[in-house]
Amino acid sequence: MNNPRSDQPSETAKITIGDKVVSCPVVTGVENEKALDISGLRNQTGYVTYDEGYANTASCLSSITFIDGEKGILRYRGIPVEELAEKRSFIEVAHLLIFGHLPSVSEKSAFSKLLTSNCMIHDNMVKLFDNLPSSSHPMATLSAMVVTLSAYYPELIKPEMSAEEMNKIIAELLAKIRTLAAYSYKKSIGEPIIYPKREYKYVENFLHMMFSTPVDEYPLDKEVVDALEKILILHADHEQNCSTSTVRLVGSSKANLFASISAGICALWGPLHGGANQAVIEMLEEIVRDGGDVKKVIEKAKDKNNPFLLMGFGHRIYKNFDPRAKVIKGICDTVLTKLGINDPCLEVAKTIEEAALKDDFFIQRKLYPNVDFYSGIILRAIGIPTNMFTVIFAMGRLPGWIAHWKEQCESPNKKIGRPRQIYVGAPLTHI
Ligand code: ACO
Repeated sequence: MNNPRSDQPSETAKITIGDKVVSCPVVTGVENEKALDISGLRNQTGYVTYDEGYANTASCLSSITFIDGEKGILRYRGIPVEELAEKRSFIEVAHLLIFGHLPSVSEKSAFSKLLTSNCMIHDNMVKLFDNLPSSSHPMATLSAMVVTLSAYYPELIKPEMSAEEMNKIIAELLAKIRTLAAYSYKKSIGEPIIYPKREYKYVENFLHMMFSTPVDEYPLDKEVVDALEKILILHADHEQNCSTSTVRLVGSSKANLFASISAGICALWGPLHGGANQAVIEMLEEIVRDGGDVKKVIEKAKDKNNPFLLMGFGHRIYKNFDPRAKVIKGICDTVLTKLGINDPCLEVAKTIEEAALKDDFFIQRKLYPNVDFYSGIILRAIGIPTNMFTVIFAMGRLPGWIAHWKEQCESPNKKIGRPRQIYVGAPLTHI
């Protein structure tokens, strides 16, 4: 592999195994992150590396997102996420992640028009919603419908695509996911689906399809639209997390975009990944029901004999603060004030944060509120039901997933993802 930083002197690290010394090239990232290229290790020694959960393994070179968890940094294509959330729309950020640059005025207008013109779902596909039980979780419906798009666009699911075909499939998916997401909600509550409107922008259309009914038009509120826009931006990418790695792994077999993203949606569904903001709301509700004794909750979280964790606190990567959490907290205050909602969960959340940040247990372990600590409160205030929280996360994460799938398709390295294992089962046994 060539070192991505040609301005850096080439370095090697030496691994000694018995009397054999193997030289591993050091790969240096743009922000000076270092990795050992161990791809030659097995051929030279017969050894593989063992890294449960890939916690210390870089699976690819990527130009999309940079995270420094120690410093609380998250940048999309070099731009801090806080700046993007303040100054740009979700569609502009999607363009940035997928195509590598913020759109010009004319590119933005063309991109918006493209998304609007592709937001309708084939009528036969709409009928499929009728055959799902209303008890279907919206994530089950969404993942099934996204892979089903492959059936409706067979011309777009070839392993090799022209740039034009690639742009077409990306636009189809970005445009349709909000329609599919809103339809899956409508079906789960047994209400008729609401068609998108041409004159509405991306987030406005989603809220309209979620909350309008055949008899009542949902009144769009600028603060609500803005809050959802920002939540989507803050979730738009997070480099090689579980669902993104899933998208890349599935895509590495040359599976089509719809199939790869559907797999990513399934990975996100798990409570250890996209389901955490739901767990925060459930925890806060229980604390409120229990009388709101925050001191008791903090002590419970610190008690090593008690499995209870303060949900929405701590992060595998961020060990200083989660830059997304700071923005989310601001939005939370704005939205609740605007909507005149006095949510006791918000008061409890703020008191917990204040108490934990002063407590040695949390300070020593570098446990700070993560993005999920306040996002559930905002979604609830907007009227999004708890079982749709992960669907919102999936809509937000879609541009990131697409960007990684595209980056992989365009990379000269076309290796299928295929980790090794250490076999610990039965030794040779004859029947
Ligand atoms: N409450 C109380 N104690 C905690 C918490 C918490 N939320 N998180 C970690 N700790 C403690 C652990 O018990 C451990 O203590 P010890 O050193 O005395 O054994 C120490 O802090 C380190 O914890 P790890 O689990 O090793 O930290 P890791 O980085 O592996 O885990 C994780 C991060 C999974 C996010 C964890 O902090 C957690 O479970 N948090 C609550 C769930 C949550 O909010 N998840 C959402 C993550 S953000 C996202 O996915 C979008």
